[in-house]
Amino acid sequence: MDEQRYAARERARALAKESLSHGDALGWFEKLYREADGASSRVPWADREGHPLLREWLAEYGASLRGARALVVGCGLGEDAEELARAGAQVSAFDVAPTAVAWCAQLWPNSSVEYSTANLLAPPPSWRAAFDFVLEIYTLQALPAHLREQAARNMAQCVGPGGRLLAISRAREPDEPLGELPWPLVRSEVERFVQFGLCEQELEDLASAGDPPTRHWRALFQRV
Ligand SMILES: C[S@@+](CC[C@H](N)C(=O)[O-])C[C@H]1O[C@@H](n2cnc3c(N)ncnc32)[C@H](O)[C@@H]1O
Repeated sequence: MDEQRYAARERARALAKESLSHGDALGWFEKLYREADGASSRVPWADREGHPLLREWLAEYGASLRGARALVVGCGLGEDAEELARAGAQVSAFDVAPTAVAWCAQLWPNSSVEYSTANLLAPPPSWRAAFDFVLEIYTLQALPAHLREQAARNMAQCVGPGGRLLAISRAREPDEPLGELPWPLVRSEVERFVQFGLCEQELEDLASAGDPPTRHWRALFQRV
């Protein structure tokens, strides 16, 4: 990991810790984006391109998204939303941090993606069953464990009949320590979407090379 990325991650950890110590699980995201002041190198998850595991998935299945109504949860700086738009989906993308949403508008001035500020823990009622495809990358794992069930339920509720949900996160075993942010998910936290009416289509456990090596879940669910 390069020095800038390391510093950005350490700062995110400090902001999260401070926010959580006041019982505020979400406030640190907006603080982080504001502090970054337009420098994406200060946003630890900003990669300037879609997540590699999403891009790989799209290379195989992207054609199935043509014309689909897609929702990107916790869109950050919009890289993944833009990937779905390039695949031909009609994309809505939201984030709880208004600064991230405003930043997306600057980064992607000609985008067809509709960016908005919203809270996954209290989504607009009009999103219920309104989407053919919901994408979640790294938002559940950035929430403390006690909020993940509600967050997963709300994501699942956005999936319409026959629609799919793709979730990508860091992975850990239940007996591994939670460690510091990002807080990787255990398998049961990913499989929880099934409790909310979705069927598991595929759950991949993927190791990626790197320093340090990382392990990810990539899971696809469908409302049948
Ligand atoms: C770890 S970042 C990942 C961002 C993006 N998905 C990515 O992979 O680059 C988590 C994102 O979710 C957003 N977020 C966290 N809680 C949220 C909530 N309750 N509702 C909407 N967005 C949320 C944060 O502001 C942040 O942009």
